[in-house]
Amino acid sequence: MWYRVVLFSLPFFIVSAPGALAQEGDADAGAIVFKKCAICHVADTDKNKVGPSLNGLFGRTAGTHPDFRYSPAMHAAGEGGLVWDEATLRDYLHNPRGKVKGTKMIFAGLKDDTDITNVVAYLKQFSK
Ligand code: HEC
Repeated sequence: MWYRVVLFSLPFFIVSAPGALAQEGDADAGAIVFKKCAICHVADTDKNKVGPSLNGLFGRTAGTHPDFRYSPAMHAAGEGGLVWDEATLRDYLHNPRGKVKGTKMIFAGLKDDTDITNVVAYLKQFSK
């Protein structure tokens, strides 16, 4: 009997797998996650707040937004070759002080991978 269950559920796996594998990200959901960042950051303009503007973040070397006083740690990370892309951003948002030791970004990090995927999708909108 077990094989009937397997045969019955197989098509559902095939249909749902591509959606689960592709890390597309939902920019609208990301806008809600971004509220956690918005006390310190804007993404839609070049304005610096407590943190640097995240406008045009993708492809930018860490610690290089004009007129922002970064920590020595963030400067050093950029000089060491850290460029913000999907992979580096995921690492940093997961554990800011793990990725850039000594960063002055006081943020525990996002624990939920879906939140990270969505906030990355949100930020990408402002990096075209
Ligand atoms: C309490 C304020 C605060 C919060 C909340 C915060 N940040 Fe930051 N962020 C900072 C500061 C300050 C820096 C500069 C860090 C440094 O110089 O070490 C920074 C730096 C960054 C950088 C590096 C930018 C660059 O130009 O190199 C990124 C990316 C970033 N933050 C993303 C985020 C995201 C996304 C969130 C929300 C999930 C967030 N931050 C939440 C204060 C904050």
